[in-house]
Amino acid sequence: MIVILDFGSQYTQLIARRIREQNVYCEIHPFNIPPDQVKNMNPEGIILSGGPSSVLGESSPSVEPELFGWGIPVLGICYGLQLMAKLLGGEVENSNQSEYGRTEISIQQSNRFFESVATDRDLTVWMSHGDRVKSIPDGFEVLAVSENSPFAAVADTDKRLYGIQFHPEVTHTDQGIQILKNFVFGICGCAPDWNMESFKESKIRELKEAVGDEEVLCALSGGVDSTVTAVLLHKAIGEKLTCIFVDNGLLRKDEASKVINLFEKHYQINLVHIDAVEIFMDKLKGVSDPEQKRKIIGYEFINIFERESGKLKGIKYLAQGTLYPDVIESVSFKGPSDVIKSHHNVGGLPEDMKMELVEPLRELFKDEVRELGVALGLDDELVYRHPFPGPGLGIRILGEVTREKIEVLQEADHIVMEEIKKAGLYRKVWQSFAVLLPVKSVGVMGDARTYDWTIAIRCVSSKDAMTADWVHLPYDLLGKISNRIINEVRKINRVVYDITSKPPGTIEWE
Ligand code: XMP
Repeated sequence: MIVILDFGSQYTQLIARRIREQNVYCEIHPFNIPPDQVKNMNPEGIILSGGPSSVLGESSPSVEPELFGWGIPVLGICYGLQLMAKLLGGEVENSNQSEYGRTEISIQQSNRFFESVATDRDLTVWMSHGDRVKSIPDGFEVLAVSENSPFAAVADTDKRLYGIQFHPEVTHTDQGIQILKNFVFGICGCAPDWNMESFKESKIRELKEAVGDEEVLCALSGGVDSTVTAVLLHKAIGEKLTCIFVDNGLLRKDEASKVINLFEKHYQINLVHIDAVEIFMDKLKGVSDPEQKRKIIGYEFINIFERESGKLKGIKYLAQGTLYPDVIESVSFKGPSDVIKSHHNVGGLPEDMKMELVEPLRELFKDEVRELGVALGLDDELVYRHPFPGPGLGIRILGEVTREKIEVLQEADHIVMEEIKKAGLYRKVWQSFAVLLPVKSVGVMGDARTYDWTIAIRCVSSKDAMTADWVHLPYDLLGKISNRIINEVRKINRVVYDITSKPPGTIEWE
């Protein structure tokens, strides 16, 4: 196993992903996790991620230097390299010639670290740094240089310490994967024996140990993430798991009844169904600010959970299907990275929440969760269901949410999904849905003037929701969806197609 200590880089999760793609298990932990805990994990290697801070700044994030003396290979990437250099007696300076984006490096000596990497020419790598290493600690040697980084790659091979100024994890770095493979296999000696089956088994064991004989409550939405969370927990602790399904009235058409059927009848998991539609509608009345809506929905959700868990007596843990992209987009790290949206699963939690959180998927990307779902034997229809945000249709209705708008959107959304499925595209796209724009425009239907709302169709491709592109749906499919929505859904007289990628847009409209 490889441990990544996270200093807040936007790429940390990519490092993890690249390593897991090599069938090596890898976990991300915050940089300030106690060293003993890292040691107890028995990692074969440690990676220090990049990050937005400067090691020259006061109280910049750091690690205990003892970590470099354990004999466990360490790879410092960007900020990680600079930190390692500083802590071991080298010097770091603020370079007035920062390097951002594509940069050429020249490899100075063939070393295990660059094994099978073409060393007879310059390598194009991805850099993103303002500071640079000015002098390296004793025992280190230079492996590669770039025009502005005399220490683009360095190593103390005796101590098994390696540092690079560039990011091997991004696709723009030539042979970046080979470089990571060299570290993971050649230097750390990991075996490529990790897969979803083994992840499943170890997670189940881990959950059993972590939870012991305590009761766990699981927030069930019916989506892939919470379903996989629930089934995984059910395998680990059986009857000790109770799922609560809160119908907040913001779900897709017929979703509530499907969830109840599936969990009670099919999986026979303890299920408490709460009809909270009135409560949510009441709290959302008059609210049109997206962040406020998200917070209200998240807060009410947790409130209901606390109330219900109180009734159930002795519940210690709350399980949630939080994924890694939710975590990094929600946590404003000690640096300049901004909170983009407060995710329902993470933001909005009251500080005095009485239950401890269990989030068995928080290290995983969506496609990995699906793989895990398959490993757990879940139905394809469920496993490949498009992601649905925690705040549901609440953030797909722009402005104030009302029952009428929800009904209109549910119908339109159902048509989008049905047609995308019929066209054989459902599994090929990341998400497809309808958004209700309650702006009125003029139309004409059957000789009569109409003055009604608009539906926007959103259909995007993505690998992990961090970036996304709009899908070039065939015109006749768009035409069919548009016709059906206008003919079948009352209150709608115009349909538009959203052609914004992420960035600069986000997938959801709010
Ligand atoms: P954005 O809109 O941020 O969405 O580009 C990225 C992905 O996350 C989903 N999403 C959420 N999922 N709770 C969730 O569980 C949320 O609050 C939430 N907001 C957005 C969104 O559907 C997309 O797949």
